[in-house]
Amino acid sequence: MKIAIIGCGNMGMAFARSFLQYDLVKKDNLLLVEKNEERKETLQNAREGIVVSVIGETIGDYDLVILSVKPQDFSTVAAELKSVLKHDQVVLSIMAGITIDRIQNELNHQMVVRAMPNTPAMLGMGITGFTAAEGISFSKLLKIENLINATGRSVFIEDESMIDAVTALSGSGPAYFYYIVKHMVDAGKQMGFDEGMAQLLVKQTMLGAYHLINNAEKDLDELIKAVASKGGTTEAALRVFEESRLAEGLTGGIIAARNRAEELSK
Ligand SMILES: NC(=O)c1ccc[n+]([C@@H]2O[C@H](COP(=O)([O-])OP(=O)(O)OC[C@H]3O[C@@H](n4cnc5c(N)ncnc54)[C@H](OP(=O)(O)O)[C@@H]3O)[C@@H](O)[C@H]2O)c1
Repeated sequence: MKIAIIGCGNMGMAFARSFLQYDLVKKDNLLLVEKNEERKETLQNAREGIVVSVIGETIGDYDLVILSVKPQDFSTVAAELKSVLKHDQVVLSIMAGITIDRIQNELNHQMVVRAMPNTPAMLGMGITGFTAAEGISFSKLLKIENLINATGRSVFIEDESMIDAVTALSGSGPAYFYYIVKHMVDAGKQMGFDEGMAQLLVKQTMLGAYHLINNAEKDLDELIKAVASKGGTTEAALRVFEESRLAEGLTGGIIAARNRAEELSK
């Protein structure tokens, strides 16, 4: 398979490196289109593929073209890409908030798959929701799924509008997690630990608790109950969370992210 990636920033390169790691593409068959001079030079030095700075005729030779520029750069890219795309090439977009319909219209191209990954893709631990335009064969879709799975796990989303919810839940999700960790670490520091010790206590707690979610035969409410004994310390914390409406803030924030994604895709 020959793959071209347009926009080789954090996400584009997370994809490129995962494909290379699992031998899903050879470096000679990987085209990296990156306009940022500094980044282009770094990519060239790292020899991770064929590096170019502009979209050219050769794009037509690639089976898959991945769009991983910022959403606001899409129209510029589309204007250049439109004339060089061949009708049987698949375009995979990982841009937030740009609908399949808009990509098809601006590229005058039908074969579009839209995916929403997240940053743990850099470690092969991402989760990506993806959806596809009608008319893409099952075998083509399976090949794309195999590629995406090199960055972690994936779910096929039938209804494209739910990609906005994927964006809000797992796309932005790592930031919510960092936010919670950060404030737990801050609490540790307020109680007298230095940064390193506070981080160790919190990070290992998150890791251990994550594995208990998957391995204990309890649901989340039961897991909470198992830590929070009546009249105890955890209960004192949970009461303050309730009083300050932390839960509502968290779910409300995630729904606001979904609404913003909807707004951006209009
Ligand atoms: N980061 C996330 O958590 C995340 C999660 C899911 C999806 N996404 C999506 O992934 C996409 C990329 O995000 P990112 O964080 O990887 O952004 P990024 O690091 O800024 O990477 C985009 C790269 O594309 C380059 N570029 C811009 N226009 C170009 C053009 N015409 N031709 C070639 N290269 C061009 C940019 O150069 P300049 O810097 O010079 O503009 C930049 O190096 C976005 O659409 C975002 O919505 C991101």
